[in-house]
Amino acid sequence: MVNETEYREKQILTRPGDSQYEARLNLLNKIGDKVGSVSDLSKLVAQIVKMTQRVIDASASSVLLLDDRGDELVFDFVSGGAENTLRDSRISTQSGIAGWVVRNSKPLIVNDVSTDKRFNKQIDKATGFVTRSIMCAPMIVQRRVIGVLEALNKNDGTDFTVQNLETLLSVASTAAMAIENLRLHKSAIDEYENRIRMQEQLRHSQLLASLGEMTAGIAHEINNPLSSILLLCNLMLSEGKSSWNRKDLKMVRDEARRGAKIMKSLLTYSHQSSPRLRRLDLHKVLNRVINMRRYTGGTRNIDASADLTAGPLHVKGNSSQLTQVFVNLLLNAEDAIREAGRTDGRYIIVTSRIHGKWVEVSVADNGTGISKEKLSQVFNPFFTTKAIGKGTGLGLSTCQAIVTDHNGLIRVENNHMGGATFIVELPLDPVKRS
Ligand SMILES: Nc1ncnc2c1ncn2[C@@H]1O[C@H](COP(=O)(O)OP(=O)(O)OP(=O)(O)O)[C@@H](O)[C@H]1O
Ligand SMILES: [Mg+2]
Repeated sequence: MVNETEYREKQILTRPGDSQYEARLNLLNKIGDKVGSVSDLSKLVAQIVKMTQRVIDASASSVLLLDDRGDELVFDFVSGGAENTLRDSRISTQSGIAGWVVRNSKPLIVNDVSTDKRFNKQIDKATGFVTRSIMCAPMIVQRRVIGVLEALNKNDGTDFTVQNLETLLSVASTAAMAIENLRLHKSAIDEYENRIRMQEQLRHSQLLASLGEMTAGIAHEINNPLSSILLLCNLMLSEGKSSWNRKDLKMVRDEARRGAKIMKSLLTYSHQSSPRLRRLDLHKVLNRVINMRRYTGGTRNIDASADLTAGPLHVKGNSSQLTQVFVNLLLNAEDAIREAGRTDGRYIIVTSRIHGKWVEVSVADNGTGISKEKLSQVFNPFFTTKAIGKGTGLGLSTCQAIVTDHNGLIRVENNHMGGATFIVELPLDPVKRS
């Protein structure tokens, strides 16, 4: 028989002396304590579900939270044996008993699911659990349903009662409030962190703007004499008439080349050469860069691997500039690994992941890692720990300038392998619909 009970508000917490009432009060007190001490949403949900199951004496229970779009419920926590099968799985709000509870914003007891058309048999099929009876309460915050708390089968085989439902409802409303608070707290922290990051970017771009003006002037003045020096060196070397020692002449040429390279980096760094951005497949750039480092022997004795998402990864970018970014990151990783002098395996792992409208590419190594003080300095122009003449200290600042020009972000952190991970985030170029 279908026993469908609708929530009667005035019945809640009105029977002192009744053992269910005591248990419920106790449970709510405990949940209140937990809410204050748990800062992790999933831990909080897990605790709530376990305590509820115990007080109601049900065989299984779960929390399903409504997704952002509001048309699917996601199993956030499941207890009673089906944890691994159901966790994170989704069901439509247009079907099933939980879907009905969301759509109608009402609780429900069904003590014999075999007679109820709303019951979704697929879930039992997937988990092997046999649902006999089910009790669901909507989790409501400011008249908005954010999820469903459900309990299945009483352990002693009896029906769910109105008192059980009242307990479930009290817990559902406390849990809903706690979850909403944690979410608000988390989004406030996210916003704060985002603002700090944006301020940091702004500070950096102001610095770039002033440096840019200066660099453009210097670059012009220095590039001209450098070109003449290079031209003359090459002429003298090719004619072979020079009374100069060829070795010295080559040294002059190499130094001039190095000066020209620094000027080129400075120009990129200061945004004076604005790139043309076109839709491109970032995976092609990454594979090309990794292969290039392998061919040139840069990654000799290093296990350089790629863990890329399936299919192409389209962004709006400038292929040669993005190549420059990832070549710089790989060169740094190779240097750091060699410096660390590891003998127990040397790794560079390039990973791509999609997060909403962004792609995140990380380059992780097991090199020296970066000390805490230096973490905030590595993107500064001319910051280098390499020997004089070896590093210009412009590699990472150039990477940052290029990534900023691509409306992206670059950051660094140390990783569990003992090395550093550089993370580049770029906006995805969405598929054009005609
Ligand atoms: N993967 C890494 N692991 C450890 N330290 C790193 C890593 N990448 C960069 N660094 C540190 O950041 C500094 C700055 O890097 P950046 O690429 O800007 O310049 P550089 O490598 O020293 O010189 P250049 O790139 O011109 O050859 C490096 O000297 C090094 O100390
Ligand atoms: Mg470098």
